[in-house]
Amino acid sequence: MIQHNENGLNGNINLKLNFLTLDNIIKRTALNSGLDEESIDKEYDIIKEDYGKRAFGGKVVIVRSDLNSPVRQDEHGQYKITGAERIEASAPTIDELSSYGAKVVVISHQGTPGREDCISLEPHSVLLKESLEKLGNSLEKIIFKRAHWYGTATEKIIKEEMQDGGIFLLDNLRKMSDEIGPANPEEFAKTPDSYMEIIGNLADFYVNDAFSTSHRWQASIAGFPNLLNIAGRLTEKEIKENRELISSIRHPYTMLMGGIKISGYLDFMDKSLENGLVDHILATGALGMLGVLGIRGRRAKNYLGRQTVDFLQEKGIYSELNTVTGLARRYTEAFVLPVDFKVELGGEVYNMAVEEIQKHPNKDRMNLYGIGSETVAHFNEILGRSKTIYIKGSPTKDDDERFLPESQQLIDSIVQLKREGATTIVSGGDTNNLVSRLGYLPQTDFTFSTLAGGAATEYHSGILLPGLLMLNTSYNQFNGRALSEGMENYNFGFKLESPKKPVDLI
Ligand code: 3PG
Repeated sequence: MIQHNENGLNGNINLKLNFLTLDNIIKRTALNSGLDEESIDKEYDIIKEDYGKRAFGGKVVIVRSDLNSPVRQDEHGQYKITGAERIEASAPTIDELSSYGAKVVVISHQGTPGREDCISLEPHSVLLKESLEKLGNSLEKIIFKRAHWYGTATEKIIKEEMQDGGIFLLDNLRKMSDEIGPANPEEFAKTPDSYMEIIGNLADFYVNDAFSTSHRWQASIAGFPNLLNIAGRLTEKEIKENRELISSIRHPYTMLMGGIKISGYLDFMDKSLENGLVDHILATGALGMLGVLGIRGRRAKNYLGRQTVDFLQEKGIYSELNTVTGLARRYTEAFVLPVDFKVELGGEVYNMAVEEIQKHPNKDRMNLYGIGSETVAHFNEILGRSKTIYIKGSPTKDDDERFLPESQQLIDSIVQLKREGATTIVSGGDTNNLVSRLGYLPQTDFTFSTLAGGAATEYHSGILLPGLLMLNTSYNQFNGRALSEGMENYNFGFKLESPKKPVDLI
């Protein structure tokens, strides 16, 4: 169903899509109340709150946030959030709607089903409350219920417990079958306790404030076509900045890619290399390991030792070996692999060249948790020649101090290059968090910082983002255009639906 853009950057479909903002709704409400367009624009700051209350007051507004955060288990077995950037960035939209008197139903995911980070949103509810307080929101409490409270109990809370301005955070969506079910809006599961069915029927508006998850064909992103889909403040900012970023790319353009979640960006790298959007991809993290294995062909399995293969299998990414191999073979110059690794063996850490690892008698017991010093030097040299630099994913294991110096050296260079005039982009929640932990401010030490990782990469490579498709459809209906305007020549495999609510605004 997902379509590729065949025309390179200039034909990027995502750049043609429009979206409604909270301001569009407020202004239309003012217009429908008899104010003329000119005075609305001139006096917007003064009238905004009043008409915001008229537009959203007492209405049930679903806000799809991305509260997905890095977590770690403490000594008591409790999961703690180790970086709250996404929660803090999500608070302004929720706060604004609450201040207009909307009943704000917040939905989000956390982690990946089957992995240990797929935990309840209980700790997130505490941090969200703190972020809202910092913004001056004096709400006594956020209503939070664990996953088994979906169904009629959810309906009861929205209808009977929620006050105007109240906030209700539903638990981790990725524990719900209708969220992770079929990836086609026409087939989204409608189980008896379906959260979509229940909140979708009660709601007046749907706000997408999760640009960073907008590349997922999942119910919480593309499953509310009956409601007017509006961009929240964070999504609005992310779309605008990502658009601006695309137009400010200068060559040579180098991407430093790493981390564990590589499946989401392999396609992007392929398209970017093929279209000449990017000049170099420096492979670190799991990508670097797979690349080194891949170019060895059939001997791959034993090349870096059994433990490395087990690790990649355990993380569910060994299956990407063929794809990464294809990239490494087709783009021998542009796709740059590590030449050495920092490894852990029997509790000690060593720097070893790839060939040394291959010949080592104990390679089956080694953990390749970082890239080595030769690799850092080579990557820094390429970065030094680049005019645009993009970093996504940690280059080394980021929760072990012993492997941080290599990440630090690469990030120090990128920050310095920005000071010397390069355009730099830090992408993804975990990478923003890493940059902060290494002593930098993503917003000022980089030219652009986006909390989106996989979504930003797909946006840049011209792969249609379902969240943006839904926003564009609502924009079209709101402005009396054909539902598919901006989407000509795309077959997305299902029929676009007309938002039915709220009728009085359209
Ligand atoms: C992210 O971490 O990039 C977003 O929260 C999306 O998460 P996902 O890749 O698990 O969908």
